[in-house]
Amino acid sequence: MKTYTSRNGLGEYLSGLRGGNKTIGFVPTMGALHQGHLSLIAIAQQRCDVVACSIFVNPTQFNDPKDLEKYPRPIQSDIEKLEQAGCDILFNPEVNEMYAGNEQWHLDLGELEHLLEGKFRPGHYQGVTQVVYKLFDIVKPDMAFFGQKDYQQFLVIQKMADMLNLPVKLVMCPILREPDGLAMSSRNIHLSAEDRRRALVLSKTLNWVKENFNTASIDSLQQESAAMISAEPGVSLEYFEIADGRDLHPATADSRTIVALVAAKVGNTRLIDNEILSS
Ligand code: PAF
Repeated sequence: MKTYTSRNGLGEYLSGLRGGNKTIGFVPTMGALHQGHLSLIAIAQQRCDVVACSIFVNPTQFNDPKDLEKYPRPIQSDIEKLEQAGCDILFNPEVNEMYAGNEQWHLDLGELEHLLEGKFRPGHYQGVTQVVYKLFDIVKPDMAFFGQKDYQQFLVIQKMADMLNLPVKLVMCPILREPDGLAMSSRNIHLSAEDRRRALVLSKTLNWVKENFNTASIDSLQQESAAMISAEPGVSLEYFEIADGRDLHPATADSRTIVALVAAKVGNTRLIDNEILSS
């Protein structure tokens, strides 16, 4: 695997590959890689000639400095995982390689920025679009691969790509789960054994909603789900929403794609999960 810490080094190497008509697949990450990330690499390998992964813990998307500080950074084991997965290129820049200073960035993402995650993490999606824009500008990928677990993030990045006419195809890849149903996440390592067990209420509730989606009303599913999650000790629900998969407004009879999305704090760890109910 070729590893770059500088934008110029990576840019030059990639432009050589592009000149040789290779298609470039890109998997942006913040590291602490798990099977979910590796599944993105595997999908990218099926669809593109060359796969580049970035590991960069982006400070501008953290609204809580403590969260940024405690974000896991196991770079050596991440590199081993990428090598074993057969990833071709790693981009692992320092903060000053990506940001010149206190750069101002604002993209009008409309309501999508303020719903659900946006309500609980103000400014988060400005930071995400800022860094993904920069990464796309450096890598110039043909395709970029993101996990469905961050469903709203996918919509936000798609909106940015549409607004700025970025020549990249975005691919949403399925959520990977532990055998007991917990969605894989870099944050799971912060869960105590007790919290890890309690966190299962999220995937269990989403499954229950999926099973009952064709027979119960959206209102009743939403209310009962919120009650089920809130009844779990140590779990503090932030939102449970059955939403239109295109704009994340509450789902209606006209919604073609419908998705149930949840966020909750389990102990001190904030987790998100979702399930596509119809598409
Ligand atoms: O999903 C993530 O890990 C991050 O939000 C991303 C897309 C790599 C941007 O920092």
